[in-house]
Amino acid sequence: MEFVAPATLWMRCRLATNIIDGRIFAAEMRARIAKGVDELSSGHGIKPGLAVVLVGDDAASQVYVRSKSRMTSEVGMVSFKQVFEKSISEKQLLEHIECLNADDRVHGILVQLPLPRHVDEHNIINSISPQKDVDGFTATNVGLMTIGQRSFVPCTPLGCLLMLRRQHGSLSGLSAVVVGRSNIVGKPMSSLLLHENCTVTTTHSHTKNLQSLCAAADLVVAAVGRPRFIHGSWLKKGATVIDVGINRIADSENKPTLVGDVDFQSASEVAGAITPVPGGVGPMTIACLLANTLNASRRSIGLDDWEIITR
Ligand code: GUN
Repeated sequence: MEFVAPATLWMRCRLATNIIDGRIFAAEMRARIAKGVDELSSGHGIKPGLAVVLVGDDAASQVYVRSKSRMTSEVGMVSFKQVFEKSISEKQLLEHIECLNADDRVHGILVQLPLPRHVDEHNIINSISPQKDVDGFTATNVGLMTIGQRSFVPCTPLGCLLMLRRQHGSLSGLSAVVVGRSNIVGKPMSSLLLHENCTVTTTHSHTKNLQSLCAAADLVVAAVGRPRFIHGSWLKKGATVIDVGINRIADSENKPTLVGDVDFQSASEVAGAITPVPGGVGPMTIACLLANTLNASRRSIGLDDWEIITR
């Protein structure tokens, strides 16, 4: 019998953890989307256009909007970017969105959140035409998605779902814990997993027995906005862990660093597969935004969806 030193054995166990590389997956998706854009342009004479609206000077939002705009152009779509002072009134912003709704060059509209407090986020989101709502945030798209009809699915949970599907194939019968109940991630994530026949538990800051719920889960999606909140000791051996968190903290040398909602070091010793931060969910969110935009432009001329979407 082979003698295996304990340290080597530990290494072998550690190496069994699959790091789900969102950068590679998203790059593959963007390459296929670029082909889809090209075909649409040569075959039907339209170029998908995405308008991104940013209000104010939030540093993180500026970074996200810059990446979204750059990648929109890189796949051959037309990128429109509008930046407004944070003092803009709700009425003025509604008027801008009305113009984008009426503009035939624009197939997708994204208003970067959060918005300044004096602006009613729901009013703004729901003023976007549901056919151009590539974030999937309007009440119309949320409703359609919830009852399993064709809609636009919010990009971050969609990206998480695609990674889970790639990891597992069928998700049917698996137990899933979603940590967080935001409209952007937690709620739509739970809804999508339910449609995959998972048994879903949606947890939040008032949940009493979070650790024991996580310990029973085959899938954990962490979207709670608290750095390194979920520790490896909470997880079931072999679970798949999707970390949606992007938290900026100071490291031990006081340098700024990005960490997720999961304590990656301890979790990767227990999980069967885990997404890193950065390089996990983030790139997938943008790839899904581009996929939704391609489909918005296809739907605008009566074509079927390009392959990606959930069913
Ligand atoms: N802010 C944080 N995530 C998102 C997102 O997916 N879409 C928009 N519009 N704003 C966000």
